[in-house]
Amino acid sequence: MILGIESSCDDSAIAIIKSDTLEVVFEKKLSQDDEHSKYGGVVPELASRLHAEALPKILQDAKAFLPNIKAVAVTSEPGLVITLLEGITMAKTLSVCLGVPLIGINHLMGHIYSLFINKSAEFPIGVLIASGGHTQLMQIDGYNCGKIWAKTLDDSVGEAFDKCAKMMNLGYPGGPLIEKAAKDGNENAYNFTLPLMGPKAAFSYSGIKNAVRLLVEQGADKNDLAASFQKVAVAHLLDKTERFLKDTKLKKFAVVGGVSANSYLREKLLKLCAKYGVELLAPDMKYSMDNAVMIARAGVDAYNLGFALKDAISLEPKATSDIFVLNN
Ligand code: KG4
Ligand code: ZN
Repeated sequence: MILGIESSCDDSAIAIIKSDTLEVVFEKKLSQDDEHSKYGGVVPELASRLHAEALPKILQDAKAFLPNIKAVAVTSEPGLVITLLEGITMAKTLSVCLGVPLIGINHLMGHIYSLFINKSAEFPIGVLIASGGHTQLMQIDGYNCGKIWAKTLDDSVGEAFDKCAKMMNLGYPGGPLIEKAAKDGNENAYNFTLPLMGPKAAFSYSGIKNAVRLLVEQGADKNDLAASFQKVAVAHLLDKTERFLKDTKLKKFAVVGGVSANSYLREKLLKLCAKYGVELLAPDMKYSMDNAVMIARAGVDAYNLGFALKDAISLEPKATSDIFVLNN
């Protein structure tokens, strides 16, 4: 069995997967949304302290499985260094105490493996990662192997959802709250300019965010604003995804990351993929957001491919990640 630990942001999670059958035998996550919501966003020091309390509690519940663990996989990059450190410290301790190897997992690769819970991985595949930390279109050719086709020049799409929700006094995390408010709003009430129109392979959300700020100041209706914002935020993802599909001609495409929990985005992507005869994959809703099952699942393939570290103590957290090389 492979044990996975996730602590890159504000979710403390541990999961265990059987490496031969890929069966998930243990999973538990403690989210910190309530603690951070009063600040309107994640406070790193608070998150780190809450991980230090939550992770040992979760591990206690997984105790019976520890004698069967053959490797420990932990998110080591990218993320908040002081929160990553909590997971890494626990992973190093387990690795030494159980006498098993340690595997550092790239959080983005983890999100990609959220597609392959209980099943074999399929590559090559086009991937849109839409999360609080990232907005990227990538071609993934295998474990830790791929190239970036487009990334954001400023904010990520999840960050735009969160910041706009904060400006609109909806709460945190903003994504699900904007989606909910949008259901009662008119998406054509306010017109936003689509960012970076044209062939440039990049995303940008700062212009939309500023336009929302101005509309809030002018007293715009919250539901109409939520719907209009969601429409343009998703339209920008679709515009670049369409160019990516035409350019790469990949026959499989997936959306992962927290924003992939958005039903409006999933519906629109399904239509776009159908237009190009592309199969759309998406994680189970419960694995869209950060979790440790995806980390343990990536750990299974990493272990089988020989990525386990011989020197567990050398693993360090990193805020940014350079595994994928930029292709443009
Ligand atoms: O993948 P994730 O859990 O954490 C990161 O790795 O960043 O993504 C969190 C992001 C947050 O910005 C949250 O607002 C967004 O995912 N999100 C959504 C929805 N659910 C979560 N955005 C739009 N619609 C949703 N339903
Ligand atoms: Zn994530």
